Amino acid sequence: MNLTYYGHSCFGVEVNGKYLLFDPFISQNPLAKNIEIEKIPADYILISHAHGDHVFDVETIASRTNAKIISNYEIVSYYEKKGLKGHGMNFGGIWQFDFGKVTYVLAVHSSQFPDGAFGGNPGGFIVESNEGNFYFAGDTALTMDMKLIGIRYKLDFALLPIGSNFTMDYFDAATCAEFIGCDKIIGIHYDTFPPIKIDHQKAIDEFGRNGKELLLMKIGETIAM
Ligand code: NI
Ligand code: MN
Repeated sequence: MNLTYYGHSCFGVEVNGKYLLFDPFISQNPLAKNIEIEKIPADYILISHAHGDHVFDVETIASRTNAKIISNYEIVSYYEKKGLKGHGMNFGGIWQFDFGKVTYVLAVHSSQFPDGAFGGNPGGFIVESNEGNFYFAGDTALTMDMKLIGIRYKLDFALLPIGSNFTMDYFDAATCAEFIGCDKIIGIHYDTFPPIKIDHQKAIDEFGRNGKELLLMKIGETIAM
């Protein structure tokens, strides 16, 4: 599985020949100005919640690529009314797609579209496939419920918010890594705005104390997972 980081909480993963794009927020992210949005592929767009910094480029990319949107029922309905296609889910639900299996899991946050429309409840995703398993937490606080993920799933890596203010900070994210039983974490949702700027080395050291690896990818960088 190749993973490309597009900044903030946006990344793409190729799974079984399908391109999964998560939380597209590129054109409004000054840190991602070198990303050519019209070149980003997408067979599926997975959306954790409806805040602008997670959905801003959904319509542009979905219209161009004809990608199927995977999210909670309310977010999918919102886009279906605009003529886009999707697959709505809700918490605890699992669906087998052609690339692998997706579970929609809890996130403790909020979810409202920039135009004020209701965005359902915020979530995260677990993707399982014969190429590997990963967890994308979306925007969330640390919760004890994350232990349930560690009980059921064997994760190869996870993408966790670490920027604080709007989500958990890197201390709580390091605890989350323990709860979910995952040693390899990719940090997301940091540095984009002044309230979520972090000290990279301190964050990496905090995970290291627990024997975990925190990767802070360059925007535009692709790594094999
Ligand atoms: Ni949010
Ligand atoms: Mn956010």
